[in-house]
Amino acid sequence: MKIFLDTANLNEIKKAKALGLVDGVTTNPTLLAKEGEGTETLIRKISEVVKGPVNVEVTGTTEEEMVKEARVMANWGEEIVIKIPINLEGLKVVKALSSEGIRTNVTLVFSVSQAILAAKAGATYVCPFVGRLDDIGFNGLELIQQIRGIYQNYDEICTKIVVASVRHPIHVIEAGLIGAEIVTIPPAVLEQMAKHPLTDKGIAQFLEDAKKIPSRK
Ligand code: E4P
Repeated sequence: MKIFLDTANLNEIKKAKALGLVDGVTTNPTLLAKEGEGTETLIRKISEVVKGPVNVEVTGTTEEEMVKEARVMANWGEEIVIKIPINLEGLKVVKALSSEGIRTNVTLVFSVSQAILAAKAGATYVCPFVGRLDDIGFNGLELIQQIRGIYQNYDEICTKIVVASVRHPIHVIEAGLIGAEIVTIPPAVLEQMAKHPLTDKGIAQFLEDAKKIPSRK
């Protein structure tokens, strides 16, 4: 399973990168707005730190605006992926960019039919948002399972699923059980994944007992 970090915070990215566990980064306008820095400057900095895909989202609404924006953004780093919200306009953009060799991530995917169209348009990645679906009483992971099932039925589909809107470690575990290739995880959830109260208790106990071991060799 590949792990992307779902944040635009450079310090958090550096911290997770130091663990050697980060294969890429996803950002979105909400995450970028929290950082108080220009998008280009920040994405360039992130791209220097992360050796892997760095996802940045267009904010235009017409095909023309989005394509123009994407062509510029694609030069902000070695492995820039352009996030495009799924709608009819967005699908045209994905088609145009993929024919130019620009990698795309179709985002805000909440249905299987959207994921089918994204793949058909030539998206490199699709981003189904599991947490936001769970929030409104739908099973987000069932969506992942269905998309994966359909993609596997067709050899010509190369689009990869990035499980997004991850809220807790169970989402990551379930995504792994389904066989999702990539999960984008907020830094806090990544930390949670490493923690267990019995581990903390066990370490404290072992350290205490280690003091009782005679110092002679
Ligand atoms: C994906 O790339 C998005 O950044 C993302 O996971 C958003 O999720 P959330 O805003 O529901 O947490």
